[in-house]
Parts: sequence; C-alpha cells; structure tokens
Amino acid sequence: IHSLSVSKLEITPLALLIIDPQGKINKLVKLEPDGLAEQLDQALDHLPFCLDRTNTTHLNLGEFLIPGFVDTHNHAPQYAQRGLGQGMHILDWLSKITFPNEAKFSDPAYARKIYTACVEGFLRQGITTASYFGSVHAEATKILADICLQKRQRAYVGKCNMTRNSPDFYVEKSAGDSLRETRECISHVRAIDPAGRLVKYVITPRFAISCDEETLKGLGDIRSENEDLAVQTHFNEAKQEMEETQRLFPQFGGSEADLYQEFGLLGKRTILAHCCYMDEHELEIIEKLGCGVAHCPIANMTVGGGFMAAPVRELLDKKIKVGLGTDSGGGFSSSMLDAMRQAMIASNAREVMSGGKDKGLSIAEVFYLATLGGAAVCCLEDKIGSFEAGKDFDGLIIGTKGADQGIMTMVEEDDTLETVFEKFIMTGDDRNIVEVYVKGQRACVSTS
Ligand code: GUN
Ligand code: FE
Repeated sequence: IHSLSVSKLEITPLALLIIDPQGKINKLVKLEPDGLAEQLDQALDHLPFCLDRTNTTHLNLGEFLIPGFVDTHNHAPQYAQRGLGQGMHILDWLSKITFPNEAKFSDPAYARKIYTACVEGFLRQGITTASYFGSVHAEATKILADICLQKRQRAYVGKCNMTRNSPDFYVEKSAGDSLRETRECISHVRAIDPAGRLVKYVITPRFAISCDEETLKGLGDIRSENEDLAVQTHFNEAKQEMEETQRLFPQFGGSEADLYQEFGLLGKRTILAHCCYMDEHELEIIEKLGCGVAHCPIANMTVGGGFMAAPVRELLDKKIKVGLGTDSGGGFSSSMLDAMRQAMIASNAREVMSGGKDKGLSIAEVFYLATLGGAAVCCLEDKIGSFEAGKDFDGLIIGTKGADQGIMTMVEEDDTLETVFEKFIMTGDDRNIVEVYVKGQRACVSTS
C-alpha cells in the first residue's frame, strides 16, 4: 500500500516487490491469484543481478507493506521531556521546560543515552527518515549523527544555532563560535557518511528570536557555499513568537518569509516547521522559492499558545510541499500515526473555520503527508516515500496479530485490505509495526 500522489493511494492485495542487493526497488509486480508459480518465475527471470530465492520474505495473512514514515520535524534532545508543559505559550515553554532540559546535553554521556533511546524509539514507530533538531552542543550533535548511522535511520541532523535571548546556561558565546561549531558538525557528518547515503547535515537556526543578524547571515553564507545542505527552522508558529520576531526585526514588517529570505536561508531544501499563520505574502514567497512545510498538528494544538494548525488544504491547493512532523517534545507523541490522526482532526476544525471552503483531509491524504509528502519536503522524493522502481526500499511490515487483543480494531472476516489499512491508520500503534527496513536492510529496532 503506497501513495502515487496526494489523492491517489494504490492498494495491491497480491504483489511481489523485488529489492536489489544495494537495497533499491527493482520492480513492484502485481500478481493474480491464479497461476502464481508461473507469474513468479516470469517476474524473477532476467533480473540484472543475482537473486537468492531463499532470501524471500512472505507476508502472512493479515500483514501488509507500507513505506516507512518520514518525520519532517522533531527535536532529539526533547525525547525525555515529551508530555511536559503542555498548554503553555511557546516562549514560556522554551524558557521554563525546554532550555533547562536541553542544557543537559552538554554531557556527551547523557546525550548518548537519550539519543540512543530516541533513535531506537523513532525506528520502532516506523520512522525511517527523520529531520532532527539537536541541542546547541556540537559534541552531542555529532553523537546523534553517529547513532542514526549505526542504527540505520535515514536522517537530517542539525546543531541548533542560538546566540541570544536564551539563558546564560544555554546559549552560544558569539556568532563566530556558533558558525565555527556548525562547520565542525558539517565536516563530521560528511566524514561519517561521505555520500550522504543515510545521514546529512541540516543548517538549523532554532528561530530568528534566538539568532543575531551576524549568525543568520553567516548561516546564509554557509548555505550558499554548500548548495546540497538543507535548512530547517521554526516559522510563523504562534502569535507570541511572531510578535517577538517583529519586535527584534522591525525592518521586515512582520514577515518571517522576508526575514529568512534576506539572510539567504530559503530555498527548495528549506523545511519550515509549523507555518500556522500564513498570509498571501508569506504563501507567495515560500511557493516561489519551493520551500517545504513540516506540519506539526499535535504541537500546534498543545504547545505554542496559538492552538491553531497550519492551513494544510490551502498549502496543498497551492502545490506547496507538505509533510508531517511529530515535533516531539513540543508535541507529546513520537508516533506518526498520532500525527496523521491529529492532522485529520485539525483539518476538520479548519473546514469549519473556513465556512466549508478548506475541506478536511482524508486518510489517503494524511498517509501521503506521512510518507511521499514528507519525502518531498526533505527533497528525497526520488529516493523514498513510495515503492516506485528505482527508489530505495524503506518500508514497514504491518501486522494485525494483536488486533483481537484490543490493541487495534479487530479484523473481521469481511474486512478488505482497504478496511484493515483504515483500521491500522486510525487505531493501530507500534505493536502493529512488525519489521522496519531502511535501504533494504532491517534497521536496529529495540524491542524493549
Ligand atoms: N521554537 C523555537 N524552539 C522551539 C521548539 O523547541 N519547539 C517548538 N515547537 N517551537 C520552537
Ligand atoms: Fe519544533
């Protein structure tokens, strides 16, 4: 089961997926129930590589395959603070809960412990690709990149840049230090994964409030020297944040799009988290520059203070790239299934707010956002997000075994693959994620 486009979900009840030894999808063969053996022989003939026929995984009855989830926005150092401070306004939540917590990542041993749990935990949730904000610390961020590579999670990893409006115990001393440490982290990530097969660096100004102009300008320079580098930041998230940004940067008249564009940080590799408040001007700029939006519906409704979710229908209508982010810990859950459900709920509220104009999202649409849409936001749509031939095989085997024990809605005789899929998306959890594959190999998923 995979998305072909935002509105097109393809469900193939009987299929053979051939993966080459490098982990790439060779082809997806649709099968008919009659004459299976001949169809398999035919499909496996004349492959451009040697296939070990004993190395075949048969799905059991009630199991199906979906692409791995892409979490376009989350914070690895917030893994152990999820659930704290819900309902607070964003700047209060940052100063009271988040900054004291993230400061603990100055200790590399602590960072290793939490980041190991975080990456394993995300993989267990079926998140095969994640775009991570690290803490402000270079050492801890390098450890995070190492762990993603070791555990086989595809990831963007970025050290937060924070040179002002942050407490003494959690701030960089100068723009110079911030930029130097950023370059150090870029070099580290390039050293451990030179071709960027799984792990890449992402330039990560936390948000404009925490960066002085010299830092933003320096990051823009790094981006222009390294066109392959992605950028991520928080964007038009909440009124409290937007008002403070306007106070600090009055020259941009309240436009964060103008602000980040001025510093050379917007482009097709830029991931903008939240985008809750978007006027025509902001939409026009991000559309023109091809930026992607990380829609974080759980965080939007629990931390931020605006309690307003992004106008996803409008973004999709304008052909702006949109994916889903757990934003854990601003969002309390690291489950992309939860993010999908909350995206549906938030979109229904927006349908009412818009007088029926912006229709709520369907299951097929939120599934697209969690897979192929997220891949596009991360500029990886040629590589992952669906089972198209030529892409890497990042996939999840979904099982419904626990369904009769009250985990997921029970599966009945007259269910079709389509209704089982619906039941999983709306009521399943990580217990239904049986296997997690990244680039054709099993990822290291802890079962604890
Ligand atoms: N804005 C700046 N930092 C953060 C963060 O950690 N979480 C969220 N949700 N918004 C932010
Ligand atoms: Fe965030």
